[in-house]
Amino acid sequence: MINIALLGCGVVGSGVYKVITENQDILKQKMGKNINIKYILDRKDFEGEPFAHLIVKDFETIVNDDDIKVVVEVMGGVDFPYSCVKRCLLSGKHVVTSNKALVAEHGAELLDIAREKQINFLFEASVGGGIPILRPLISSITADKVLEISGILNGTTNHILTLMSEDGEDYEKALLDAQKRGFAEADPTADVMGHDSCRKIAILSSLAYGKTVYYKNIHTEGITHITPEDIKFAEKMGYVIKLLGKSKILGDKVFAMVAPYFLKKTHPLAMVRGVYNAIFVRGNMVGETMYYGMGAGSLPTASAVVSDVIDCIKHINKNVIVDWKNEDISILDINDALVSAFLRFEYKNLDDFINSVKIEFNTYEIVKLDDLSDEVALVVKGETEKVLSEKIKNLSSKGFKLHNMIRIEEN
Ligand code: HSE
Repeated sequence: MINIALLGCGVVGSGVYKVITENQDILKQKMGKNINIKYILDRKDFEGEPFAHLIVKDFETIVNDDDIKVVVEVMGGVDFPYSCVKRCLLSGKHVVTSNKALVAEHGAELLDIAREKQINFLFEASVGGGIPILRPLISSITADKVLEISGILNGTTNHILTLMSEDGEDYEKALLDAQKRGFAEADPTADVMGHDSCRKIAILSSLAYGKTVYYKNIHTEGITHITPEDIKFAEKMGYVIKLLGKSKILGDKVFAMVAPYFLKKTHPLAMVRGVYNAIFVRGNMVGETMYYGMGAGSLPTASAVVSDVIDCIKHINKNVIVDWKNEDISILDINDALVSAFLRFEYKNLDDFINSVKIEFNTYEIVKLDDLSDEVALVVKGETEKVLSEKIKNLSSKGFKLHNMIRIEEN
């Protein structure tokens, strides 16, 4: 029997308890051992719950107990989890976490400690909820140089955008629904502002390219500025709007970005609806691979956490090599990145607008909607971000107000 402890019993922690208790027989079959949850650290007492007797209030009880071989951190936040995880690793306990904020900030350092101690620090559930995506990067696509990663990495925003475009749902109501279903972060700002996707693409990229892609260096935009008008234009033009996390090797730099994108309706990621996530990984030998599944929610995330616990138990005296060095990769300046974009402008006279557009762009497309008489969409391709923002400024200075700019995915 292997004793483990949970730090936190919220949406994910309670799911971990359920997976381990309900699937105990299956887990024993896979590992030849039972998993015993000895402690659960939480502020709440959970009176009446079947695990109430496991609740402890003091982290010291866990870190000082030599019987605990694996600690599962599912609290959220960064500073307290960081000090707990570091102390557990230093005291020789394997650690599993679903905490992307912790991994994006301290992943390389914590992996170094695990390597030194010949134990494991695993975090499959930190990206893509229940989708196996980190293990393929660490253990499967190992014959390749990974060139590019791109995907829908946040279930909450994908759920919101799906409800807004398919049911005409209002943004606030759609967010409330995602919160009720346990998809959103404690503070959903992290979801809707793109910060959650940013941390996930940073983790994926660091594992794929072998050095830290630091999340604070990634240009990040959320979905709060997406309006029903943008969705109507997208629909008319044959696109859907999705929040994407993207990264790509460009020479000795990495291009990385999180932003909403127009995707052709036929694009494989366009068909990813609701809480589902999907991630493309392109290797120089294998070509394109795609991973799909539920990106958030208690049980899918808990399933990924428990799969890591099993991995730790299978490698109880051995460190599984994870190639993520504690060195930063340089990120391409966003201004130098090439972009195609949908630009929604307000105008008074269409001829005046088109004449001004002609001064700025050699090629462009204009799209109108029958029921939006004072707005027009301008579609432009292949500019650098810097040049595009200068041209937008020139148009704005002539009185054409920009309502929104959404990038277009060309792949
Ligand atoms: N809030 C996250 C999401 C949870 O919506 O994707 C899973 O990481």
